[in-house]
Amino acid sequence: ARSYDIAAVPGDGIGVDVTAEAVKVLDAAASRHGFTLRWTEFDYSCERYARTGAMMPDDGVETLSGFDAILLGAVGFPGVPDHVSLWGLLIPLRRAFSQYVNLRPVRLLPGTTSVLAGRRADELEMVIVRENCEGEYSTLGGRHNQGQPGEFVLQEAVFTRVGVERILRYAFELARTRSRRVCSATKSNGIVHTMPFWDEIFELVSADYPDVEAEQCHIDALVARMVQHPDRLDVIVASNLFGDILSDLAAAITGGLGMAPSGNINPERTHPSMFEAVHGSAPDIAGRGIANPVAQILAGAMMLDQLGEAEAARSVETAVEQVLAEGRVATPDLGGKATTEQLGSAIAAAV
Ligand code: NAD
Ligand code: IPM
Ligand code: MN
Repeated sequence: ARSYDIAAVPGDGIGVDVTAEAVKVLDAAASRHGFTLRWTEFDYSCERYARTGAMMPDDGVETLSGFDAILLGAVGFPGVPDHVSLWGLLIPLRRAFSQYVNLRPVRLLPGTTSVLAGRRADELEMVIVRENCEGEYSTLGGRHNQGQPGEFVLQEAVFTRVGVERILRYAFELARTRSRRVCSATKSNGIVHTMPFWDEIFELVSADYPDVEAEQCHIDALVARMVQHPDRLDVIVASNLFGDILSDLAAAITGGLGMAPSGNINPERTHPSMFEAVHGSAPDIAGRGIANPVAQILAGAMMLDQLGEAEAARSVETAVEQVLAEGRVATPDLGGKATTEQLGSAIAAAV
């Protein structure tokens, strides 16, 4: 029988709760579709940092590299500065495994409501293709004249030709399987070096895809459009920071952060890809058992797709849709009173 070795890294806060539900649902899908997921759990987290002084052991990357895929909860919790926890786990994994595509599909599902008035299920559907290995997320730069009146910091963004071109190509290829429209989030009117470079490569790549409608939008106007006229948006390609911000907005207009999955994809399959919800560890609701597990469950469906188990992935998505449409079991963010565990179990049962 087919089987896959999966690393589960629940991480911090609600990451732990929602990952447990995703594992439950994915196991149900595996058993229904005749394969096995062999899970190994790792305690890489802020809690481990407090105990050992490191988010993961020195051989953490090497250990995880042997798996077919990684399911990650969330990283970061009060008590450990975010730049320490994130640069100690999440960001190094994305880079070590060359997961240069962060794919963040969103869709307004039946049984959920959009904060945008009058939108019905399936009216909103788009995918953020976020550059995931370089750009504004950079350690280059530093603090100068510390403690003096003229103190300042510099931060250098890094956009490589290879890095920009491959994410843009990925977006155009993806558009060919969907609406044949790509919108590039840019800010060339205010940023002097990086964005004009991005735009220049966008022009070059788009010339190779005459069948795909290519549009460049200033990020500021794009966020307004996403709220007021999201209808014609489909594939949105963006730099690391812009893509991060756009993906929370896209989640917010399609049912909230509890609904939005994400895949850190290594398209060449030279390393494992890593799947996680768009949201974080949500310290404000952690430990209460009320987080919505749907985002993490849908991230699990993306993982099944990537493993080549498309039918199982569709079963998971259908089960999510069914349970949401019925509306009987819903977490507080969806207007209900159910716990994380109850919603996860209802979805597993529907699978
Ligand atoms: P967050 O996504 O954790 O929370 C934002 C808001 O959305 C909170 O009010 C939270 O309660 C709510 N929310 C998020 N997920 C939810 C869910 N599944 N169900 C119901 N409500 C949900 O963002 P934040 O507060 O900015 O960050 C908290 C911590 O998580 C920080 O340390 C941050 O760095 C980290 N973080 C990690 C990741 C990741 O690991 N990929 C992503 C984002 C943030
Ligand atoms: C995400 C998160 C991370 C990011 C943070 C926590 C570093 O917000 O996965 O969206 O910006 O990549
Ligand atoms: Mn984010």
